Amino acid sequence: MKKTSLAIFLILSIFFFANKAISIIIADKDKQLFEEMSANPQNNMQQKAIPINVVIMTIDPKVELGKKLFFDPILSKTGKISCASCHRPDHGFADDKSTSEGINGQQGDRNTPTVFNTVNLKFLFWDGRAQSLEEQALGPIKNPKEMGETVKGVLAKLNKDPQYVKEFSQVFGQTPISTSQLVHAIADYERTIISKDSDYDKYIAGNKKALPDSAKRGMDLFFGKAMCVACHKGSDFTDGDFHNIGLPITDDVGRSAISITGKDTRKFKTPTLREVANTAPYFHKGQFETLEAVIAFYNAGGGQDDYKDPLKKPLNLNDQEQKDLVEFLKSLSGR
Ligand code: HEC
Ligand code: HEC
Repeated sequence: MKKTSLAIFLILSIFFFANKAISIIIADKDKQLFEEMSANPQNNMQQKAIPINVVIMTIDPKVELGKKLFFDPILSKTGKISCASCHRPDHGFADDKSTSEGINGQQGDRNTPTVFNTVNLKFLFWDGRAQSLEEQALGPIKNPKEMGETVKGVLAKLNKDPQYVKEFSQVFGQTPISTSQLVHAIADYERTIISKDSDYDKYIAGNKKALPDSAKRGMDLFFGKAMCVACHKGSDFTDGDFHNIGLPITDDVGRSAISITGKDTRKFKTPTLREVANTAPYFHKGQFETLEAVIAFYNAGGGQDDYKDPLKKPLNLNDQEQKDLVEFLKSLSGR
């Protein structure tokens, strides 16, 4: 008796989830209108134009393939490290190490940045050495301290895997699997990794209750007295440019190794602040464990460096103001 009800329950849940999975995703506020229209399409189509803000997301097979690759350690030499080992979905698509850890436990040179909203970036990597997600994707595969594989090696493994051969040929209509197909699939998946609908976004959209008072005060500081917006600007809170903010000096010269100009010495790309509460530790070497420590560093005007950005001066924020800034940064995590 017990077994039958369990079986019925299981079957019902499978139906329920399958139905959820194939159902189209539409913006909540348009859902009702959309349902109305779907109930009587003929009639409605004639009377009302489809509103353009109804977002109908179908599952793109190229994105699905890219996602599978992103999570598959097949891309690494040892078969143990995937993109997601360092860009962990449960850690804001970054990791919890100061500098990343690649194959055979090797320590990398820099902190893992988030993949969130990289779709909008002109320059990728801390020093901006790649200019598209496609170009970027081969970097970690070939990096001996990250995935330590060759492109040839990866393609050989993928081309030997009947399931991948089938999926690639369904998506691209061509075999064998090529470098271009590989990077396009991964990049298209990354373009879907977007952080939005944070409490801050809700506030900006008109929901004045979305932010607690402390975060609101922090927001005013961010855009005002603390001048964070000078570099963390736009909807992703980055100017996409490079700055030296006076972090402790190491042998990493940042942007100047790419641009070969002295004035770029120890400049690094302004990172997005979307999801920043989930991506500790911070900065290109992961020098700071908490947002509180980051704000204290900024409050002191950054450290000593001859190449430091002139904008980096002591901010003279009191304890409460520093807390408020942290609360604001926490409001930038979305769904
Ligand atoms: C061993 C850890 C590790 C692995 C594995 C790894 N990454 Fe990264 N990723 C990093 C680090 C560290 C950086 C920054 C490197 C730098 O700036 O020099 C980075 C940078 C990036 C960036 C640029 C983000 C920005 O804001 O500029 C993207 C996009 C990215 N990785 C995607 C991927 C993809 C796709 C894969 C798999 C093919 C991958 N990563 C595998 C650690 C890793
Ligand atoms: C002069 C430009 C500039 C200003 C002004 C500025 N930042 Fe930054 N910010 C950067 C750069 C560049 C980095 C990366 C530095 C590095 O790692 O070398 C950064 C990194 C950060 C990080 C770490 C993010 C991560 O993923 O590691 C946080 C948090 C941050 N800034 C918040 C702020 C706040 C809050 C303010 C205002 C008090 C501010 N920034 C002012 C340019 C700036």
